[in-house]
Amino acid sequence: MSMKNKRIITAILGILCAVTAASCSGSNEVNSYTMGAVGETVSETAAASQSETSSQTSAAETTGETVSETEAAPAKATILVAYFSNPQTDSTDADTSASRNLESGTLKGNVEYAAELIQAKVGGDMFRIETVEPYPAAYDPTINQALDEQRANARPELKNSIDLSGYDTIYLGYPNWWGDMPMALYTFLEQNDLSGKTVNVFVCHGGSGASATLSTVKSLQPGANVSDNVLTLYWTDIPDAPAKINEWTG
Ligand SMILES: Cc1cc2nc3c(=O)[nH]c(=O)nc-3n(C[C@H](O)[C@H](O)[C@H](O)COP(=O)(O)O)c2cc1C
Repeated sequence: MSMKNKRIITAILGILCAVTAASCSGSNEVNSYTMGAVGETVSETAAASQSETSSQTSAAETTGETVSETEAAPAKATILVAYFSNPQTDSTDADTSASRNLESGTLKGNVEYAAELIQAKVGGDMFRIETVEPYPAAYDPTINQALDEQRANARPELKNSIDLSGYDTIYLGYPNWWGDMPMALYTFLEQNDLSGKTVNVFVCHGGSGASATLSTVKSLQPGANVSDNVLTLYWTDIPDAPAKINEWTG
């Protein structure tokens, strides 16, 4: 073999070695990524794959069995925002009235509005405490019905139930009704066991604050860690609710 041919063959072998080494090293990285970084990478990929394309899903599947397990059982939210609210259809004005007519024209109760802001900040699930028999939309008849229920120590039947077992933290919101919680809150707190959970109470009111309702929540849920840091929102506080909730939730 001529010297020239030897040089050409040596050069070709050199190139082949370099290519092989690069591809081996690349495949080692893929393996160590796949095996060693399955936890974090998989959960990110799996979360993305829920809403994205099938090509991304199949890319995630190549990382191994753990991916499909993660996809099959996404982590459940451990925060719940549970609230009662009764938007009033009359006298709706952000500064002076019982409920809030948002700029969009959507009528929302004050507590409902606060609950949505809290969920937007802390995440988690939302549960509305509603009675089978709805309350009147107008203010005066609601006032009368609520007073009758309080005097009768009633337990209005709730429309929906919820399994609280997966939640660690519950934001519990309600309006002050006649210096107390709406009676539907008694039903809710007597039907559910919040033991071991952190409970953060928020109350909308027309001047009475939370009255003695924090003590009532504590006495109905002696096993719960009910925070003393109650958020109270007066009617005129509602426009500032985003800032107040931001501060309260930390
Ligand atoms: C039946 C009823 C009773 C109320 N009683 C009180 C009260 O005793 N003290 C108070 O400060 N506000 C009272 N309010 C005002 C509500 O607490 C306040 O309007 C609250 O923001 C309503 O929240 P919501 O729009 O989410 O239902 C009462 C309102 C209603 C409808």
